[in-house]
Amino acid sequence: MTVHGITSPVLDALQSIVGKDGVLTDAAGMAGYLGDWSGDYRGAALAVLRPGSVAEVQALVRGCGSLGLGIIPQGGNTGLVAGAIDSNGSGTVIVSLERLNAIRLVDADNFILQADAGCVLQAIKDTAEEKDCLFPLALGAQGSCRIGGNAATNAGGVNVLRYGMARDLILGLEVVLADGELWNGFCGLRKNNSGYDLKQLFIGAEGTLGIITGVEVKLFPKPARVETAYIGVASFEAAIALFRQARRDCSDLVSAFEIIGAECIELARLVNSEMIAPVAAPVQVLIELSSSALVDLNAVLVGFLAGAMEKGLVGEAVLAASGAQAKSFWSIREGLVEGQAKRGYHVRTDLSVRISDIPALIERARRFVKAEHPGWTPLAYGHAGDGNIHFNVLPPLGLPDAEARARGSGITEGLYDITTCLGGSISAEHGIGRSRSREFWSGLSPVHRRLVSALKNALDPKGLMNPGCLLPSTETTP
Ligand code: FAD
Ligand code: LAC
Ligand code: ZN
Repeated sequence: MTVHGITSPVLDALQSIVGKDGVLTDAAGMAGYLGDWSGDYRGAALAVLRPGSVAEVQALVRGCGSLGLGIIPQGGNTGLVAGAIDSNGSGTVIVSLERLNAIRLVDADNFILQADAGCVLQAIKDTAEEKDCLFPLALGAQGSCRIGGNAATNAGGVNVLRYGMARDLILGLEVVLADGELWNGFCGLRKNNSGYDLKQLFIGAEGTLGIITGVEVKLFPKPARVETAYIGVASFEAAIALFRQARRDCSDLVSAFEIIGAECIELARLVNSEMIAPVAAPVQVLIELSSSALVDLNAVLVGFLAGAMEKGLVGEAVLAASGAQAKSFWSIREGLVEGQAKRGYHVRTDLSVRISDIPALIERARRFVKAEHPGWTPLAYGHAGDGNIHFNVLPPLGLPDAEARARGSGITEGLYDITTCLGGSISAEHGIGRSRSREFWSGLSPVHRRLVSALKNALDPKGLMNPGCLLPSTETTP
């Protein structure tokens, strides 16, 4: 007998592991797990499984292996590249880590925190803060994404230029391997130079090599002082020159340097219609300095801005006079993503180039859109301090969705070509997922492909883990 596409022996087997409540098969119950945040992708699955312990995750992996079911691990489902959902889910189940959400340990003396993989990033940040510490991973989705998902995608965000990507913040991982065995790689050590660094295999693997069940991260002293300024500059060239100057003048106190093309501001207004950008320049910069020591950050920032104004790099600048004003600056930056989602389907990219190539990337991309896709609106913003630009393109209002998507894939291809010509990457921080797997795979050299296939086959010989994600499904055996 089949219920909602799943046969009763399979359902019985899964329920015997996680209980009746741990298995969702009805459309309403599964809906939240099968649609992505932006509304771009719609997935399918035989069931959503919600294990409540690491032992249950192990038993599920073994069970799925013997039933021949593919497994898609899922954290907060905030990923932007269809890594945690699959429209072709007829033989797969989603394993949600959301019930594994405990903080296991906070050791403020050693600046270490251990958590279950399903812990929401914001909860980890809050827990660290209670101990006067900082967990610096910061992204717009931090209220929903989960630390296992952050590890699996090697998440970036707005503080990377100071603290690094998720990879740089992780000390250890606990992983259920594709055969159900548990690998505990927690060590609490800052230095552990003994052979292959196995955790690195799973960081950024997007669930294709195993299910991360626990994450051990580095903490930092909580900054006692933070200064934020919203700056107007004439061009992206000026913004990059300003960044170079900031690194010299403010040394390692710069914790964020975001750029926003003025054309993006309208999008933030879709979220808050009363929002007024503090400056009206064609390119806007949000800079943050922070320090846990008693450094006069205000003086550093004012000195830096005065010098930059003298050199003609900066037109106008507003220093946040309070935490609330700083928050209002950040809400402009954060509103961009939500505003674009409100606008509906759009071309979304996550491009990475050398920092000095950012102006060329944006200029070439704008020229390409204007010449070949008139009526479409390019938006350029991102983590300039990391060379990471989200160059997105909005379809003309009223263009039917199907037509927009068809043309959108051509635009994406054009933007990837421009990035590749500059020696850049088509995925700076979001990952490959299913939406970029074809381009990722075709851009690899034969030796790179061979190494990726060898790793996949060694760790997941049956191709059970997140089939179709990262590697196109036919590429799992060389
Ligand atoms: P999911 O979306 O659930 O999964 C993502 C991938 O990881 C999938 O392939 C999934 O199979 C795998 N996975 C999840 N959990 C596990 C696990 N426990 N074990 C093994 N594999 C697993 N990203 C950035 O890098 N920088 C940003 O600035 C940023 N800003 C964002 C802003 C918004 C508003 C939104 C919606 C997203 C943003 N993202 C950003 C993307 C997203 O939040 C990150 O990729 C995040 O790390 C995904 O975490 P998640 O828990 O939601 O993972
Ligand atoms: C951002 C996400 C989309 O930077 O990565 O807003
Ligand atoms: Zn980003």
